Amino acid sequence: MTQTSVRDALAARQVSRREFLKFCSTVAAALMLPSTAAGKIAMQLESPKRTPLIWLEFQDCAGNSEAFLRASRPTAAEIILDILSIDYQETIMAAAGYRAEEAKKKTIDAGGYLLVVEGSIPTGEDGAFCCIGGRSAVDILAEAAANAVAVIAIGSCAAFGGLPKASPNPTSAKSVMELVKDKPVLNLPGCPCNAVNLTATVVHFLTFGTLPEMDVQHRPLFAYGARIHDNCPRRGHFDASEFVLTWGDAGHRAGWCLYKMGCKGPVTFHNCPAVGYNDNTSWPIKAGHGCIGCSEDNFWDFGLYNTANLQKFAPPTAYAPVQPQVETIAPTNAALLGGLAGLAIGAAGAAAITQLSKKDQPVESSQVTSDDLK
Ligand code: SF4
Ligand code: F3S
Repeated sequence: MTQTSVRDALAARQVSRREFLKFCSTVAAALMLPSTAAGKIAMQLESPKRTPLIWLEFQDCAGNSEAFLRASRPTAAEIILDILSIDYQETIMAAAGYRAEEAKKKTIDAGGYLLVVEGSIPTGEDGAFCCIGGRSAVDILAEAAANAVAVIAIGSCAAFGGLPKASPNPTSAKSVMELVKDKPVLNLPGCPCNAVNLTATVVHFLTFGTLPEMDVQHRPLFAYGARIHDNCPRRGHFDASEFVLTWGDAGHRAGWCLYKMGCKGPVTFHNCPAVGYNDNTSWPIKAGHGCIGCSEDNFWDFGLYNTANLQKFAPPTAYAPVQPQVETIAPTNAALLGGLAGLAIGAAGAAAITQLSKKDQPVESSQVTSDDLK
């Protein structure tokens, strides 16, 4: 642990106390904690102990590093870089070659660090597709994970394999959680991961000493607990059956629903509508393109413009269950009711409910799998 005070480090970067406290409040909100938590976060982050961090990059485009380092001032990166002791990060470290590898080895031997992994890990041909300093990514990850207190897989490639793992997966790429089995692994998928979510995760770890609560895919619930479709500003158009049918048509110009253009919002879990990207400047649906499901497993193989399969689309189980029919309705009345339902909630919504009524069990958020997008 480095013993320089975080307050001094921030002051050296001309980050004022006011800006620091504002940062703590923003992170508390992102973590869905009460505003009173901001004080505790500030107190913990100002501890003179600075947790070391090692950031590895394997099969990736460095998009997550770039997204993290390009936030506004005071950047999330500035504050996090000062709160942590970043001992190894290929994009920003000054050292190179043997000196950099030696510094990393020293941190690994001391233990007690956070490990962030960006990119997937190729396992084909004995790992020959990605080697750094003459060693394969598989070896480097195993060595670095051994003494880590927790592992954060940042971006869809590290979390789920991403583009390198897309069919036909020529390098036999694997995700971090497929290879690291004896350490807590938290996934922050997204293409790229939103800097807000990495910052909040790290701050949660530093404040409470634990990783945030996760879903079955190891994603923190504060960021991946809600379906995009349920918070989408275009949702009213979906319910009213107002769909964009071609790029640039009248519906597109009017901001209608993008479902028929391949939007995967109904089967994607991410906090994009709430926090946006680039300091909430925009996010895919706000920019006029459908969600491609970039925080879901294997999203590259779904077909970016294929429509999501709504057969398993269901309201949360907290809603009252659909009751079975007690009386038989004459076919003419059924047609009339179907027509009214279509008018009231939109054709796609009616179709979804029709499909739902055929299912015994509604699907819970944590049960949504890649099959839902096929
Ligand atoms: Fe929004 Fe996409 Fe759902 Fe339409 S389908 S309401 S654009 S998330
Ligand atoms: Fe990704 Fe969809 Fe959000 S494409 S950035 S999960 S809107």
